[in-house]
Amino acid sequence: MRKPLIIANWKMNHLLDEALKFLQDFKRESVFSRLESKNAPEVAIAPSFVLLSELHKKLQFNSVKLVAQNVHWEERGAFTGEVSLSMLIDVGCDYVIIGHSERRTLFGETNALIQKKVAAALGKHIGVVLCVGESLEERESGKTFDIVGEQLTTALSCHSLETSCHSLEKGNPELPTKLAIAYEPVWAIGTGKTALPEQAEEVHLFLRKLLLKQYGEVADQIRIQYGGSVKPDNIASLMAQPNIDGALVGGASLEASSFAHIIEKAFL
Ligand code: PGA
Repeated sequence: MRKPLIIANWKMNHLLDEALKFLQDFKRESVFSRLESKNAPEVAIAPSFVLLSELHKKLQFNSVKLVAQNVHWEERGAFTGEVSLSMLIDVGCDYVIIGHSERRTLFGETNALIQKKVAAALGKHIGVVLCVGESLEERESGKTFDIVGEQLTTALSCHSLETSCHSLEKGNPELPTKLAIAYEPVWAIGTGKTALPEQAEEVHLFLRKLLLKQYGEVADQIRIQYGGSVKPDNIASLMAQPNIDGALVGGASLEASSFAHIIEKAFL
């Protein structure tokens, strides 16, 4: 049984006082006290880089994990504006989101660049949430499986990497706990237009089969989250699908009560 993973992706939202207010409200939600129970989903928050350290101080003694929204693959050096994996680990991050569609479309991140980030992150033993998803045009022209297949397999292949990438190989025992995939159809992100549960499941199953081909039976333990206009009223039907193992939540995670309602529906 895979433990669902629910992540609040705050994107470029919430100033410090807003984030602190969120935490205060979140800790008052009844679901918060039940997060340590066995049937609870794993819950995490991805604030902006500048809030990571402060949120770590507030979250370190409970079960809510901390996630960064992006990273650079190099260890250190002249990369103005970038943040390294060691820096994220240093401030207490458990996961990093890699290849979000906003990074791909607005900031030109390619599959090749995402591949470097994934290999470096898994090599540093930090959890990776690898995002894949097709645009509306790609879906309408019947290319969904080609696009997400290419995004997944390139990101997880060692091909053309200069550095060693044992972290991506089949024998890495950490893969089931350190790697999660987020299927986020671009047309569903921030649009209020969620994929139908069956539509999402079709892609999740396809991704699961690719993971099985690459990693064998451990692929059954790798979580595949859905993302794209997840809300308290649609999470249950999405989670009812056999290969949907949680959610990456944007807009509906900005407010504590709405995020708490989503978590509530993800208990096993
Ligand atoms: P949304 O964003 O829930 O606002 O659609 C999801 C995401 O981009 O991770």
